Amino acid sequence: MVAKTHSMGIFGMEAFPVEVETDLSTGLPSFEIVGLPDAAVKESRDRVRAALKNCGFDFPVGRITMNLAPADRKKAGPMYDLPLLISLLKASRQLNCDTSDAVFLGELSLSGQVRPIHGVLAMACALRSLGIRRLFVPAKCAAEAAVAEGLEVYPVESVPQLIAHLENEHLIAPAKPLPAVDEAGPQLDFSDVHGQPEVKRALEITACGGHNILLLGSPGSGKSMMARRLPGILPPMSFEESLETTQIYSVAGKLPEGVSLMKNRPFRAPHHTTSTTGLTGGGSMPHPGEISLAHNGVLFLDELPEFSHVALEALRQPLENGTVEVVRAMGSASFPSRFMLVAAMNPCPCGYFGHPTRPCTCSPKAVDRYLEKVSGPLLDRMDLHIEVPPVDFDQLAAHGDGESSAVIRERVTKVREIQAKRYAGLGFSTNAQIPDTLFDQFTETSSDAARLLQRTFERMGLSGRAYRRILKIARTIADMDGCRIIDTPHVAEAVQYRTLDRKYWLRNG
Ligand SMILES: Nc1ncnc2c1ncn2[C@@H]1O[C@H](COP(=O)(O)OP(=O)(O)O)[C@@H](O)[C@H]1O
Ligand SMILES: [Mg+2]
Ligand SMILES: [Zn+2]
Repeated sequence: MVAKTHSMGIFGMEAFPVEVETDLSTGLPSFEIVGLPDAAVKESRDRVRAALKNCGFDFPVGRITMNLAPADRKKAGPMYDLPLLISLLKASRQLNCDTSDAVFLGELSLSGQVRPIHGVLAMACALRSLGIRRLFVPAKCAAEAAVAEGLEVYPVESVPQLIAHLENEHLIAPAKPLPAVDEAGPQLDFSDVHGQPEVKRALEITACGGHNILLLGSPGSGKSMMARRLPGILPPMSFEESLETTQIYSVAGKLPEGVSLMKNRPFRAPHHTTSTTGLTGGGSMPHPGEISLAHNGVLFLDELPEFSHVALEALRQPLENGTVEVVRAMGSASFPSRFMLVAAMNPCPCGYFGHPTRPCTCSPKAVDRYLEKVSGPLLDRMDLHIEVPPVDFDQLAAHGDGESSAVIRERVTKVREIQAKRYAGLGFSTNAQIPDTLFDQFTETSSDAARLLQRTFERMGLSGRAYRRILKIARTIADMDGCRIIDTPHVAEAVQYRTLDRKYWLRNG
């Protein structure tokens, strides 16, 4: 007879239903799994066989053929162990119960313990639309699965425990989602940063409008220190944002232990030696890269010019679209990747170009080559540039009297609320994301501000892109001021954050 059991598969972020079919027939003993299984699925045979025997069941004698349908989609990973075992028990009539409204997921140990798997939340979310109610998952993944409401999620520790439940002998209690916790532990605080009021102001604007920012300054000026404090002044994620980001971490197998729903915005700081695949995602069964792990949070590229040209090029499309497409032979997968980019760099190879006291030892050619590495398309996509001056000793030695991150975060949250209200129902929520088609509608300027903008535009020889960046930043500064119409001071301040265009990148032009 043919027995069927429901399971789920995942490709990229996309979960799909999988049916596990078992056919037992007489003949020479054999055990085949078909339906595009990868190596890990093929190994399922040995685990299922051992788990069956060690839990006191008989391994069926004869020809065993198991099929994972649909056969045209690749099945990867060890998560089919449990549904394979259930299907085999049903085909051999060692288990007689209705499982037509149940989905099984889980890896098995040889002794029949059920081990955690990746991507449970994404599969649980997809399951809701399939009309299947009961979900049996590894106990360690149950709280995560329970975040997808509307399902009965059963935490399974072992095969005997599951069988006892299915045979109504000893029921498993359904899981509940854990309360959201601050998974990042104590956050870095802005009150540690002495002085640097201009840089702090620029970072607050960045946080308010969801912008990108480039920090440029000599070594030790505090660029890394301040960049790492940006997540602490961002408002927590909304439920929808949490759900999106948590699914990515779940698929990547990077969800911290004990966390079923992430609350704090992620902060990713990949090293400049990280491969392009590591940054953008990839692999034969595509997995998310750093830019997706930074979704709804911050991607920090420290020492920007050290990143390979290819890697930086690969960031352009995701920066524009908020998603990254990973194309593979098995089909393409797309991952969400809407992040705030924070980049830091020295102004030249030795680090002291433009320093007030230390001389730069680089040749003009070397400085140019260094800056050229990041100029052009990527630089065009940075909203704000800010020079980070070296802190002097007096400031460093002085007692910190700076504002705490909590105070700044409160202001930022208010400005984010203004934007969320204004853009409600339009599919975006921050000034940085205003699409070109709606640009004029949301960047209304006073006539004085418009004149200032025109004069600046002509004097600085700005590109059309830079012009829009200035207006978006001015929009954010106006929101911080509680002004509906963008006025002169807002434009005047916004213009300052584009001056590096002139000072560094247009030195020769
Ligand atoms: N404004 C500042 N206030 C307090 N400490 C600072 C400040 N700027 C730099 N520092 C100290 O100097 C160290 C080096 O700064 P860092 O952020 O690594 O500089 P950069 O990334 O610009 O090279 C920091 O870890 C911090 O201890
Ligand atoms: Mg640094
Ligand atoms: Zn130099």
